[in-house]
Amino acid sequence: METQYFNAVKQPEAGTKLGGGVIRSGGLVAFPTETVYGLGANGLDGEAVNKIFEAKGRPNDNPLILHIAKKSDLKDLWKSVPERARLLMDEFWPGPLTMVYLKSSRVPEEVTGGLDTVAVRMPDNRTALALIRAAGVPIAAPSANLSGKPSPTTAEHVKADMNGKIDVIIDGGPCNIGVESTVVSLMGGTVTILRPGGITREMLEAVIGPVNLSPAVLAPLKQGEAAASPGMKYKHYAPDAQVIVGTGSLPDMAAKLIAEYDRREAEGLTCIIFATEETRCFYRGKRYVIIGERKNPLTLCESLFAQFRAQEGKADVILCEALPETDMGLAYMNRLLRSAGFKTI
Ligand code: TXA
Ligand code: MG
Repeated sequence: METQYFNAVKQPEAGTKLGGGVIRSGGLVAFPTETVYGLGANGLDGEAVNKIFEAKGRPNDNPLILHIAKKSDLKDLWKSVPERARLLMDEFWPGPLTMVYLKSSRVPEEVTGGLDTVAVRMPDNRTALALIRAAGVPIAAPSANLSGKPSPTTAEHVKADMNGKIDVIIDGGPCNIGVESTVVSLMGGTVTILRPGGITREMLEAVIGPVNLSPAVLAPLKQGEAAASPGMKYKHYAPDAQVIVGTGSLPDMAAKLIAEYDRREAEGLTCIIFATEETRCFYRGKRYVIIGERKNPLTLCESLFAQFRAQEGKADVILCEALPETDMGLAYMNRLLRSAGFKTI
């Protein structure tokens, strides 16, 4: 298959118009969102949705998010819309918040992996919204990477994984959040964070009071434990390089990372430190790259996946800094710990 490319800046209408038609007729279109690039198919067409799993090499029981362009489209996809969903979508949609609740009969089981709930979000990206409108159907979309690779935050990343496997790629430039949306479950009369993201726990609590945090956000599932979100049971991004997370006060953490660096380099391995503006002074004489600012964890989220991809085939060991697990630090630590297989020092 030949993949067609469109630039959302230079050809703002061409890609979404053609892409909308491709989605409607059962094809696959990769598109930018504010979080990461999505790989979209007609969310009401089970056969089209199956092509997503095939292109990504994703297990069929890991359910997808339906993307909509109008808040009022939610009621067709859910059995009913609970009051707390209304409060949250009024505050945070369009934006990086995905809500899980009981699905309506319109939603095919291919989307939900057989679950009786479905995840829905309204992305905050002009191209994504135009594509959904042009398609005229909700778009089912996971991140547009091969299963097991970091989520793509540029069209080049999508091309590297999906060229020749999908119909269209729309290039909307780099994503500005860089980690996937916050996923909350509204089941059981409460709000539970299944995956932290751009809408933080603190932001949610300011609107609806206390929310629960699924234990799987910061710790591995125990053997035999059921996953609240099927995505949790898969090792998300398993880089070729070993990722190790340094914890503790800044000087302690840096000292631990440097000791590990020296030990591994002495074994003949190539190491790199993912440093920050605030900590670069500790790593003089070592190989390091500045990936953002600790005081603004969003900058670290924005570049983490791209920096992992940039190290493919280069580093054997990637040494990273832990952040406090508050605000955007929670989303950062969730992705980092999973990439590290929860290995901390
Ligand atoms: O930012 C995002 O959310 C991106 C962009 C493209 O919108 N999409 C994305 O999709 O990250 P994906 O498929 O990579 O992640 C969806 C997550 C998975 O962890 C999945 O298990 C969970 O949401 N999920 C989907 N439906 C669910 C459901 N019914 N119940 C529990 N978890 C669900
Ligand atoms: Mg993904």
